[in-house]
Amino acid sequence: MLLKLQHVSKHYQLGDTLIKAMNDVSLEIEEGEFVAIMGPSGSGKSTFLQVASILAVPTSGSILLRDRDLTQYNEVERAKLRNKSIGFIFQQFNLLARTSALDNVGLPLLYAKVSQEDRVKRSKAMLEKVGLGDRLQNTPAQLSGGQQQRVAIARALVNDPDLIFADEPTGNLDSKSGDDIKKLLSDLHKEGRTIIMVTHEDDVAEIANRLIVFHDGEVISDTKQKSKKKKTTGKRKAK
Ligand SMILES: Nc1ncnc2c1ncn2[C@@H]1O[C@H](COP(=O)(O)OP(=O)(O)OP(=O)(O)O)[C@@H](O)[C@H]1O
Ligand SMILES: [Mg+2]
Repeated sequence: MLLKLQHVSKHYQLGDTLIKAMNDVSLEIEEGEFVAIMGPSGSGKSTFLQVASILAVPTSGSILLRDRDLTQYNEVERAKLRNKSIGFIFQQFNLLARTSALDNVGLPLLYAKVSQEDRVKRSKAMLEKVGLGDRLQNTPAQLSGGQQQRVAIARALVNDPDLIFADEPTGNLDSKSGDDIKKLLSDLHKEGRTIIMVTHEDDVAEIANRLIVFHDGEVISDTKQKSKKKKTTGKRKAK
């Protein structure tokens, strides 16, 4: 078991109203799973990703990553763990505007105090992996949406994370760029990486092998599904 949520809730008090963005969610995610999260707008999908990736602190419940209880961690420990073990891909790419693709990808390594030489080497290798070896010096404005999202994926992967979270990674892309990102995510899954992805699109959800549906902050269905693509390799080595 890689990730385990036990009775996790995230509530917001707004004036007199209590908003149960996430309410008593318990689930386990195994190493190498590719999970799609679906559900209507406001059902708690992004909240779930933020809480499960320890970007946000839950109101109650516990989150275990390889049996370590992350809800006991302080802010510094959380940041460290995120930097080392978690990759996050956003709908809006979230790249630094005036910064080259190479330096955007190298950012998590900079925070992890990796030497300049290693940073360049690893960032370059990662950009080559996502098919952008010839765009190292381009800033985001000099790249298409699909290319920007590939830079963001390279950034999410550069620290070799145990877990990759993606919140509507194809939400801002045309269908051709969306297909490229789908292919890339499928390939990462075939390498044995664990991916948890929110999407509104059926054809994107289809590439995952498990579908979890949220409604009003709760899980209303959780089903295994056959990945359309063949899976070739097994698990990654634990760090
Ligand atoms: N910081 C906050 N303060 C108060 N309420 C919030 C906050 N963040 C989210 N919510 C509420 O929690 C609920 C779940 O929001 P969330 O963003 O997780 O939904 P979602 O499923 O990702 O929706 P979408 O598909 O539109 O992205 C919503 O009702 C939202 O208004
Ligand atoms: Mg959302």
